[in-house]
Amino acid sequence: MTANGPVGIGFIGTGMISDTYLENLTRFPDVRVVILGDLDVERAAAQASKHAVPAWGTSTDVLTHPDVEIVVNLTIPAVHAEVSSAAIAAGKHVWVEKPISVDRASGQALIARARAAGLRVGVAPDTVLGPGVQTVRRAIARGEIGTPIAAQTVMQHQGPDVFHPNPDFFFARGAGPLLDMGPYYVTALVGLFGPVARVAAFGTRGRTTRTVQVGPRAGTEFPVDVPTHVSAIIEFERGGVAQSLFSFDSRLPRVGYVEITGTEGTLLAPDPNMFDGEISLTRASTFGPGGIDTEWVDVPLSGALAGRGLGVLDMARAIRTGQPHAATAELGYHVLDTLTAIEEAAARADVVDVASTIGEIALIPEDRDPFEATL
Ligand SMILES: NC(=O)c1ccc[n+]([C@@H]2O[C@H](COP(=O)([O-])OP(=O)(O)OC[C@H]3O[C@@H](n4cnc5c(N)ncnc54)[C@H](O)[C@@H]3O)[C@@H](O)[C@H]2O)c1
Repeated sequence: MTANGPVGIGFIGTGMISDTYLENLTRFPDVRVVILGDLDVERAAAQASKHAVPAWGTSTDVLTHPDVEIVVNLTIPAVHAEVSSAAIAAGKHVWVEKPISVDRASGQALIARARAAGLRVGVAPDTVLGPGVQTVRRAIARGEIGTPIAAQTVMQHQGPDVFHPNPDFFFARGAGPLLDMGPYYVTALVGLFGPVARVAAFGTRGRTTRTVQVGPRAGTEFPVDVPTHVSAIIEFERGGVAQSLFSFDSRLPRVGYVEITGTEGTLLAPDPNMFDGEISLTRASTFGPGGIDTEWVDVPLSGALAGRGLGVLDMARAIRTGQPHAATAELGYHVLDTLTAIEEAAARADVVDVASTIGEIALIPEDRDPFEATL
């Protein structure tokens, strides 16, 4: 292993989302993608050829590759903890797609193993490190809407069975609209309001089976194991309440709606599943005979735009400089704990306390350039 220079990266899991990670991580000068691995070695080989990665093979090939310092785990949620733990056991740092694990126990065990080994775990989403969510956090920290007191978020569409060739995992334990899409919204909310104290929720399931709609498996039926429409109320430790809708049951797509209300104004934030987007806020409306006229102010984005892989790059640089990385396992675990509590609250139609907590989440410096060689 090298102790300086670009950080060596190996992928485990080269499915649908690996393209965007590979496009970015092969362009950032501070990291070097050295090998791709997958259960399906042919898929790894095809992705290696497409993105000019010099080696491919099995997960073991990635774990035993001497130049791999960070394993980027892009497998399905059911094996996130197992694959990440194997990487830690092999002496590698891990970046894992969301959620960190499908249950609290395996998430806690992974964090404990990494700590004992002196290795890092970074957890998606890294969209919240992009200019969209970071600019919102800066605007709110400047007091642009006074003290934030409430939020509303909406994420509803028909479900990933309409666009993903292997959508089964989206409807299995560890996914559903809550655990699949919830991490974007709850991670953004925790960045704005701080840790979650307790949640209440109701949920339902539109259908008990779904059918693959695209790709070679089109027409295949599979079971729906999780609620596919969940309404949650989230109360934060330091004050503030959010109401959030997560649904794979709506024929009306409405995604990325995030509204933050403060004592002096209300801000419309970009989709937390995106790195950028438009931000506007209002502090005044006129109520007249012709209706309500709202005055909107645009908030320009600040910070360099990159895409998925930004969190891996942040962790790679942090490994070299000895600084903390931004998307920590503790944050990923607190988000999983919150989403699991929402799932429990929906199942019991009750209020559930969130046991874990998290410290202040640092902002990314505005002048940081992902495309600069710093190592
Ligand atoms: N598809 C998206 O739009 C999207 C967006 C953001 C995040 N994600 C997340 O990325 C992850 C992967 O999603 P995807 O859409 O790429 O899934 P996918 O099913 O297309 O790919 C998953 C890959 O992991 C491999 N794999 C599964 N188990 C493995 C194991 N034990 N060892 C080695 N390889 C294994 C599979 O063979 C497959 O190639 C998920 O956690 C998902 O939540 C997906």
